[in-house]
Amino acid sequence: MNIVILAAGKGTRMHSDLPKVLHTLAGRPLLSHVIERARALTPSRMVVIYGHGGDAVPRALAADDLAWALQSPQRGTGHAVMQALPHLIDTVPTLILYGDVPLTDPATLARLVQPATDGALALLTVDLADPTGYGRIVREGGAVRRIVEHKDADEATRAIHEVNTGILAAPTPALRRWLAGLSDNNAQREYYLTDIVAAAVAEGVSVTATQPEHEWETLGVNSRAQLAQLERIHQRRQADALMEAGVALADPDRIDIRGSLACGRDVFIDVGCVFEGKVVLGSGVSIGPNCVLRDTTVANGAQILAFSHLDSAVVGTDARVGPYARLRPGTELGEGSHVGNFVEMKATRLGPGSKANHLAYVGDAEVGARVNIGAGTITCNYDGVNKHRTVIEDDAFIGSDTQLVAPVRVGRGATLGAGTTLTRDAPADRLTVSRARQTTIEGWKRPARNKG
Ligand code: UD1
Ligand code: CA
Repeated sequence: MNIVILAAGKGTRMHSDLPKVLHTLAGRPLLSHVIERARALTPSRMVVIYGHGGDAVPRALAADDLAWALQSPQRGTGHAVMQALPHLIDTVPTLILYGDVPLTDPATLARLVQPATDGALALLTVDLADPTGYGRIVREGGAVRRIVEHKDADEATRAIHEVNTGILAAPTPALRRWLAGLSDNNAQREYYLTDIVAAAVAEGVSVTATQPEHEWETLGVNSRAQLAQLERIHQRRQADALMEAGVALADPDRIDIRGSLACGRDVFIDVGCVFEGKVVLGSGVSIGPNCVLRDTTVANGAQILAFSHLDSAVVGTDARVGPYARLRPGTELGEGSHVGNFVEMKATRLGPGSKANHLAYVGDAEVGARVNIGAGTITCNYDGVNKHRTVIEDDAFIGSDTQLVAPVRVGRGATLGAGTTLTRDAPADRLTVSRARQTTIEGWKRPARNKG
């Protein structure tokens, strides 16, 4: 099939400088959801009609399999589809989608297109409790006769609850013919795509009405409130799918997945967590409340405690992170390692069994196995121009409040005394300390306040 996606409209009610179809649902543009669902149907041609917002839309979503057609000015949905005609192949039907209707199930679309393959005009319709604003499906003797826009409808027509979702499929040569016959003689002085229904009926072509399984499949975004509503529907569906697959969620209404989340067996996720990009959680992993994980992999049995932020990190088997830990890109934690509260790590490999339990910054570092990093340890990795690496070998013990001025190396089994500022390598198995010797001044007296 050909697929045409209408995305030229203004989106006035968003009150935004961003074109409506670039507003995000689950962290990516509305239009990218529509394109992804369209792709699932393996179309021969995909054309996006853009207009409002200019090149911003094609620039944001350019892809090899997409053609872009400019509609300027925007003179209605029929006029929009006309812009796509040069791109369409006549031997397959054409499916028309809206760039601001992001949640239609590809299975529904496949079901819709079937009659168009056999020469019919196929409409996706839905019965709405409140049909205000929508085009009404007018039937006679059960058969669809025409669509009347709300603004053009009389009282009797406005009482109809079956509405046009806007999504439809048509045989392509017929679509060309019907579009050529449109006029803008209506309340909005627009070329209505919906007028092709009456044209088809006049030719004796059958018009079918397919209904989706769920009403939300047809919901579009016209306002921020509708966008938020669709976000919750989408998130809830993802949560339901996770639970269906065996994941324990403290509250399926308080999780946000903006990308993909793959989970092993017996994973537990507490409330308020956000998953971005590609996140993989192994079996037995638990994620505490209010964590953010982006492009991160967590191995079996690891625990991420409350309020931790992980970005492009790899957490090893049975490791423990947080509460209040920050793992920045390039952090790799070994098996059974611990990263505790107020510890920040970046581009660091922490070996198996190593611990940084409190208040530390470890960046650009290679840390061996069974290392203990004391509270207040800082790798001074940046000289204002370049980043330098710190190497800490196996079984080292880094005393509290130590600064490691990189590049520097701490040998295997070395101990650094608390408060050390390490500017040269520390030898293996020895105590290294840089600290002014403690002295007590004999006979010293506190100054006394002068009287009078
Ligand atoms: C349209 C239908 C109406 C249906 C409703 C469902 C027509 C005439 N009416 O209403 O029957 O119930 O959708 O939401 O088709 N667009 C363009 N170029 C334009 C105009 C619109 O690309 O010149 C795009 C918009 O970006 C949007 C879609 O077409 O994605 C629908 O436009 P919108 O104005 O929301 O729909 P209506 O015309 O109100
Ligand atoms: Ca609309």
